Amino acid sequence: MISLAPLITLILACLGRATSEKAPNILLILSDDQDVELRGMFPMEQTIQLLGFGGALFHNAYTPTPICCPARTSLLTGMYAHNHGTRNNSVAGGCYGPHWWRSLEPRALPHILQQHGYNTFFGGKYLNQYWGAGDVPKGWNHFYGLHGNSRYYNYTLRENSGNVHYESTYLTDLLKDRAADFLRNATQSSEPFFAMVAPPAAHEPFTPAPRHEGVFSHIEALRTPSFNQVKQDKHWLVRAARRLPNETINTIDKYFQKRWETLLAVDELVVTLVGVLNDTQSLENTYIIYTSDNGYHVGQFAQPFDKRQPYETDINIPLLIRGPGIAPESHIDTAVSLVDLAPTILAWADIDTPSYMDGQSFHELLLNNRRRVPFFERSLLIEYWGEGTVATYNSECPWPAKDRLAQCTPAADCHCQDSWNNTYACLRNIRHREDRIYCEFRDGENFLEAYDLQLDPFQMTNIAYDLLPIERALYSLRLKNLTQCSGHSCFL
Ligand SMILES: *[C@@H]1O[C@H](CO)[C@@H](O)[C@H](O)[C@H]1NC(C)=O
Ligand SMILES: *[C@@H]1O[C@H](CO)[C@@H](O)[C@H](O)[C@H]1NC(C)=O
Ligand SMILES: *[C@@H]1O[C@H](CO)[C@@H](O)[C@H](O)[C@H]1NC(C)=O
Ligand SMILES: *[C@@H]1O[C@H](CO)[C@@H](O)[C@H](O)[C@H]1NC(C)=O
Ligand SMILES: *[C@@H]1O[C@H](CO)[C@@H](O)[C@H](O)[C@H]1NC(C)=O
Ligand SMILES: *[C@@H]1O[C@H](CO)[C@@H](O)[C@H](O)[C@H]1NC(C)=O
Ligand SMILES: *[C@@H]1O[C@H](CO)[C@@H](O)[C@H](O)[C@H]1NC(C)=O
Repeated sequence: MISLAPLITLILACLGRATSEKAPNILLILSDDQDVELRGMFPMEQTIQLLGFGGALFHNAYTPTPICCPARTSLLTGMYAHNHGTRNNSVAGGCYGPHWWRSLEPRALPHILQQHGYNTFFGGKYLNQYWGAGDVPKGWNHFYGLHGNSRYYNYTLRENSGNVHYESTYLTDLLKDRAADFLRNATQSSEPFFAMVAPPAAHEPFTPAPRHEGVFSHIEALRTPSFNQVKQDKHWLVRAARRLPNETINTIDKYFQKRWETLLAVDELVVTLVGVLNDTQSLENTYIIYTSDNGYHVGQFAQPFDKRQPYETDINIPLLIRGPGIAPESHIDTAVSLVDLAPTILAWADIDTPSYMDGQSFHELLLNNRRRVPFFERSLLIEYWGEGTVATYNSECPWPAKDRLAQCTPAADCHCQDSWNNTYACLRNIRHREDRIYCEFRDGENFLEAYDLQLDPFQMTNIAYDLLPIERALYSLRLKNLTQCSGHSCFL
């Protein structure tokens, strides 16, 4: 007598395979200007618990360009800025506008996923120069895009077909609700989803939700060894700094507190969205990524408050990922960049990475539920084009317009935090016996900076001019190679 049991088992196995082979869902949460070095993740205890301890914590995640628009563009396109062409936060610098919608949107991650059957959602800050005109950006089925730069109240969102103004709804909370509604709906459907949520925290104007105001009023900005230290071994913009007066230090302390307070609402957003996925039995089939576009400094080397510098405060970013096959409490030391996210997400979705992407999938690092994760040597590129024109002149500060300095404000004691010649490229090397950064400035001095981060985590001593000539030449060659790389040639 033939037993049907094996056959039935086989059929069930096939059915099981078919349903579990539904492509995984992706939830990507992107904060704004959140550092790691100054304990930017401190307020996000539940996020660390759910995504970091519930998945993988990356200790060496970097932005390829420490400023919003180019960094967001790298995340969405998988390309370094020298290839995607978005150089700064203005339209002239490729931050939205025709270049973006004609040549980048059709090649960006959301559009590729949508073409492969993903239901896509965006909520929050898109690109600094997005102002809600024309069609919804290509690639998004559900779009709630903020007009312009981060703000917490009194903002306009492009909500699919129309623009809607909100006066007094705290933006992070509104995004939490919109994203939760989308997830509840999308998890009922047979198609996979890609949801990206980009809250304004911890960007200026640093407005916490009313329920979080004052929670960190007892905290002062972290006094790193570099705090308010004027160093003469750095590029001219940093060398030119004077020590910050007490009034500016008070402002810095206040901003530091408020930055942390704004992040408490983001922590709640993460808890809510993970909760919705759990309630809808979707947690096991969803990758959840938490990261930021770039870091931030407050007071290091007497620079008041900004990003745009090639220091760890500005370039090291949070990255936490939970999802199918990722062992809880995985610690990843391999260096990864925002350009790697699109290729990684495509690998999860079983879609080939297009050859124009400069990033590398790190999917393999996370495979097999291995808790002891392998380490790969990497050299990442960090590149930045200084902003500053005669129009960035601030008459409240003593510097002339012709100097083309930028971000000079009385609140920052008229320290200028950027300039047309604050342009550089760095090689961030994280190898078996090496944890270094090597930077070349494209300024009138061709200035060099390098740090051994194993010995000098706060970047107090520039060793660029102490390197052996052969060593320096090697770094320089590698860096030159990376600043011209595209696709596979970026894999160093
Ligand atoms: C809201 O923003 C607009 C411009 O974006 C500004 O003109 C207006 O004064 C703001 N309103 C409040 C109450 O801040
Ligand atoms: C939920 O999904 C249905 C069908 O796809 C759609 O018509 C509806 O607009 C969705 N609602 C939300 C809030 O996304
Ligand atoms: C600035 O603050 C420091 C430390 O709190 C204090 O020692 C110093 O006297 C203050 N300077 C002025 C000019 O108030
Ligand atoms: C998911 O929900 C179950 C039942 O309420 C709970 O025990 C579990 O802790 C939740 N998991 C997460 C990650 O929230
Ligand atoms: C932004 O980049 C563009 C193109 O390189 C440049 O023309 C423009 O001056 C830059 N904007 C600022 C404020 O520096
Ligand atoms: C950079 O530009 C500023 C202002 O235009 C100028 O004062 C400074 O000397 C320049 N620095 C270098 C190293 O080129
Ligand atoms: C950079 O180096 C890689 C690997 O050695 C090589 O394949 C590539 O052609 C080089 N690219 C450039 C622009 O030199």
